[in-house]
Amino acid sequence: MKVTVLIENTVAKPLDLLGEHGLSLWVETPGHRILYDTGQSGALVHNAGALGIPLPAADVIVLSHGHYDHTGGLRAALKMIGHRLPVFAHPELFSPHRVSEPDRYVGIPFDRAELDASGADFRWVKDPREIFPGVWAGGTVPKTNTFERGDARMYIWDEGRRVPDPLNDDLSLYLETAKGLVILTGCAHAGVVNIVEHARAVTGQERVRAVIGGTHLAPVGADQLEKTIDYLKKLDLELLAASHCTGLAVAARLAAEFGPRFSFGSTGLTFTF
Ligand SMILES: [Fe+2]
Ligand SMILES: [Fe+2]
Repeated sequence: MKVTVLIENTVAKPLDLLGEHGLSLWVETPGHRILYDTGQSGALVHNAGALGIPLPAADVIVLSHGHYDHTGGLRAALKMIGHRLPVFAHPELFSPHRVSEPDRYVGIPFDRAELDASGADFRWVKDPREIFPGVWAGGTVPKTNTFERGDARMYIWDEGRRVPDPLNDDLSLYLETAKGLVILTGCAHAGVVNIVEHARAVTGQERVRAVIGGTHLAPVGADQLEKTIDYLKKLDLELLAASHCTGLAVAARLAAEFGPRFSFGSTGLTFTF
């Protein structure tokens, strides 16, 4: 199985690749090809060309959540793919996500009809769903610990009131291998520890081999960061590719903690399992 980083904030190789604030991963299992997220601008199409990745061969698209930096390239990806295909996402994908500092809309930059017309065949995943043998879309993540508190800057309007954004649409991919789980996260807004625990419960596989993707550890407090690092260390991961909203400072800390098992998970890298 292979996971290639099509879009991330940074670029790993001196090739003709574009980096942008966002995430997109190309997953090749023995039987299937999955596009997980699409970055923010459509630059994934350019990068796929540069990396020799055949986007039209994708069997499905899976979206980690509605934020623009994960869904903004969706229309460009659908256009490149050129035929109707399943798009797995949480039913709250179109939630009107907002963020303060500066205050703005950060949700999906398309409406449903526009995407339907572009070839998206939406399949809603609220409860865990095995979309292919050994490939799980996690659905809503139960919040099982008290230290992962989410990002206070993220909110939605609810009947005229500003309320914290529950980001229920946070959806991760769990890939089963003989040696344990490979977990792909978008921004891990539900908390990376909650997500890993959910992956273990859903798949019945205790051993976790790798975590790849955004962790949203950049803005968290010291308590959450230390508890998360302790937890991840106990997993004895083969690979931690914490990228995107992990932030450079936290990523540098993780690189020091995890040594050769850590990767910045930049655009152009491929991880093989
Ligand atoms: Fe993000
Ligand atoms: Fe996000």
